[in-house]
This record gives sequence, C-alpha cells and structure tokens, in this order.
Amino acid sequence: MVIRVEEAAAHVGKEVEIRGWLHNKRSSGSIHFLQVRDGSGVMQTVMTRAEVSPQAFAAADGVTQESAIIVRGVVRTDARAPGGHELLVRDLHIVHLAEPFPITPKEHGVEFLMDHRHLWLRSRRQHALMRIRAEVIRAATEFLDRAGYLRVDTPILTPAAVEGTTTLFETPYFDLGRAYLTQSGQLYNEAAAMAFGQVYCFGPTFRAEKSKTRRHLTEFWMLEPEAAYMVLEEYMEFAEALVCAIAAQVTERRRAELGVLERDIAQLEKVRPPFPRLSYDEALARLAAAGKPLPWGEDLGGDEETVISSAFDRPVFVHRYPAQCKAFYMQPDPTRPEVVLSADLLASEGYGEIIGGGQRIHDLRLLELRLHEHHLPPDVYRWYLDLRRYGSVPHSGFGLGIERTVAWLAGIEHVREAIAFPRLLNRLYP
Ligand code: 4AD
Ligand code: MG
Repeated sequence: MVIRVEEAAAHVGKEVEIRGWLHNKRSSGSIHFLQVRDGSGVMQTVMTRAEVSPQAFAAADGVTQESAIIVRGVVRTDARAPGGHELLVRDLHIVHLAEPFPITPKEHGVEFLMDHRHLWLRSRRQHALMRIRAEVIRAATEFLDRAGYLRVDTPILTPAAVEGTTTLFETPYFDLGRAYLTQSGQLYNEAAAMAFGQVYCFGPTFRAEKSKTRRHLTEFWMLEPEAAYMVLEEYMEFAEALVCAIAAQVTERRRAELGVLERDIAQLEKVRPPFPRLSYDEALARLAAAGKPLPWGEDLGGDEETVISSAFDRPVFVHRYPAQCKAFYMQPDPTRPEVVLSADLLASEGYGEIIGGGQRIHDLRLLELRLHEHHLPPDVYRWYLDLRRYGSVPHSGFGLGIERTVAWLAGIEHVREAIAFPRLLNRLYP
C-alpha cells in the first residue's frame, strides 16, 4: 500500500510503500539510513544488509541525494526518529539516479540559492514556509467566507492605475493600445461591493517598483476585502479580527513548521485585540522623539515603520495620513480635510506595513476633482465614477499583502522566501 509520510502513524506494524526522493543518507558497513522525502514529510528508513536483497543493498550504496526512489518496508514507532516513526526497509527501487545535486548541506549564498529556487524549494525550510503561506491564505479566506464576504475575483489586465502611475507595468493590447498589470483589485472590488455588499478578491498584483528592499516584490499576492456602508473605525476593527484569526490559526496548525524556522511562538501569541491606533500626527511625534523626524506630509518609509512598529508588542494601526501622500480615492476626514480616512496596519517586531486601506470617496464631484488633481484620464474611470451616480454610499476596504504577512508570522528576514518564485527588481529567473 502506498502511503504519504505524514500518514505513517496510522500504519505502524504494516508494510507500506513510500514514493519520493532521497533527502539524505548515512551509511556504516552493513546498514544504510536513508531519509526519504515525499513532499508530506521526511521519513527515516533503515536498511540492513541481512534483510534486503544484495541488489537493493548495492543500489543504496550508490544512490545520490535527490534521486527518485521507492522504498517498501514496515513502519515502526521510534521516539528518536524525526516524526516519531521509521521504516524498516524490505526493498528499494531507484526510479531516477540524480546527478550531483547543486544544493548540499553546506552553506550557500543567497544569490546561488535564488538561482536554484526550483531546487531550493525541496528543503525543509522552504517546506515550512510554503505550508505557512498556504495556512495564511486558508485562514484568511475561511475568515472572510464565514463573515459573509463573497469572493469576486478581479481582472489582472486593466486600462487604468489604482495606486499611482509611476509603478505600472505596461503591455501592448491589440488595437486598444496598451493595458496595465493591475496594482490592486480595489476599484473593481468597489463595483462588486455595490452589487453584493461585502466582497473580497484574492490574486496576484504588480508594482514596477524600483525598490530593492526586504519588503518589496514586483509581483505579490493581495487579499482585498471591501464592504458597502463600512466606515474607517469598522474597517480597523474588521482588519484586526482578520489578522488575529490568521495569527491564531497559523500558530495552532503550523506549530511544527514554525519550529523548523525557530520562530518565537510567544511573539505570535501576543497578536490579540485591541491593536493600538495611532494617528499619523502621533506617529510623527514618536518619530521625532526617536530622533527620526519626518516632515508633515511625507509617507512613512520602511525605516519609519520599523521605528513605530518596534515600539509595540502587537500590530499597530496608523490612521489619518495627509491626503497628499495617499492615493486619489481616499475619503477626506470631514473635520480635517487635509488628512484622509485611511489606516495602515504595521506588523509587530519591526516588520512594518502589511495592510493598507481606508474609506473611499463616495461623492461624485470630489472624486472627479481628485482624478483631475492626480492627472488621471477621466474617460478610463467612467465606470468607476458611475458607482458614485447610482446609489453611492460610504464604503471601505483594504489590502493584506500575503508575502509580508507570511514573512512576519514566519519570522524571516526577506519577503523573497515567502513566495515560491519571487519576482524582484533584479530577478525574473527561474
Ligand atoms: O498599501 P497598498 O498599496 O494598498 C492598495 O493597493 C489598496 N488599493 C488596497 C485596498 O485598499 N484594496 O498595498 C496593500 C498591501 C501593503 O500593505 C503590503 O502588504 C502589500 O500590499 N504590498 C506589497 N507587498 C510586497 N511587495 C510590494 N511591492 C508591495 N506593495 C504593497
Ligand atoms: Mg500602502
């Protein structure tokens, strides 16, 4: 019977077959210890000369790291084995003898590993990261589904900018001129929210961002909820509940993976409501006190976010940014029109912004004025303006960056390891 390594506990005492790859090997005379990886886990197997055919034993002598192999044997409990089980091998079949594998247990530089990302994914560390990523996405979408948000996916090829025109990727588009790879599904989400009340989209988004930092990808995945009638305070409460649900589910269900990454679980257990809420002005005062003054009107950069977020043991909202440093669609604060009803969520431990969002302009005239001020061509936003013509209501939404969230929860240095095949300013390969 073929089993997956993760199912071993249910097959103790039985003969099973595992199909996978050789992760590692240790031999001493008449015994081979083969670590077999099948994608669900790594199982230690023990092959003794006395218990297998001479051919099988000889095959194990010559098998190389990452060769494709099928092992048959009996599962037994062994507290010393990783995972608590090992396999007493009866037979070994080599499906493909691998060439010398470029990634060995010795230390490699990051650029070398990134060039071999297609092979690097086989490592224990990358397994842990991809499973944490999948859990983040599962937790987030389950939370939104439970909350009654309808998933309505939005287009990737679009005629217009969402987050400013300087970070657009362009592509020729038949007789229609050019198209842009979407920076955010938000504008379409707003149309969907006016149709369905509460919606979200989830997909890849693109920024031709000339930033070479540990937080920037040119292609990243964003989860974007949007709700009609939702105001700024309600958005912050909802985003806080979402982030707490994600952190709790990852901590509970991906404990083993967090262990592989040596993540300090105690930090994740602090991710509980309420998150502190700072106004932009309060954030500036803190920056000044920390010796990092920022002129009023400028957006917080990575360094500023690190200062603010390091000061709290849980994520912190910064709200009411100056209108001049935010996108065209942001609703001004009625009591103070030079600031907008926006809020970013900065993750703890210095990780910085993982969510951007806020309340949208719902007044037609004001939105027209903003498009004009931002030099955006009104004709391609005609449909978007229509939303302010036919039953316009206050509404809010936000975008949660998946890779930044994964990097934070997993406690890794750089977002490049939070996605299987990262796209960076200087990297399109593999
Ligand atoms: O703050 P941003 O630009 O907001 C929007 O795009 C809104 N339209 C979303 C909305 O309201 N529906 O991006 C949202 C999040 C950021 O907080 C960050 O987590 C992530 O997307 N993000 C990036 N992640 C990796 N690399 C980049 N270059 C990113 N740019 C934004
Ligand atoms: Mg932002």
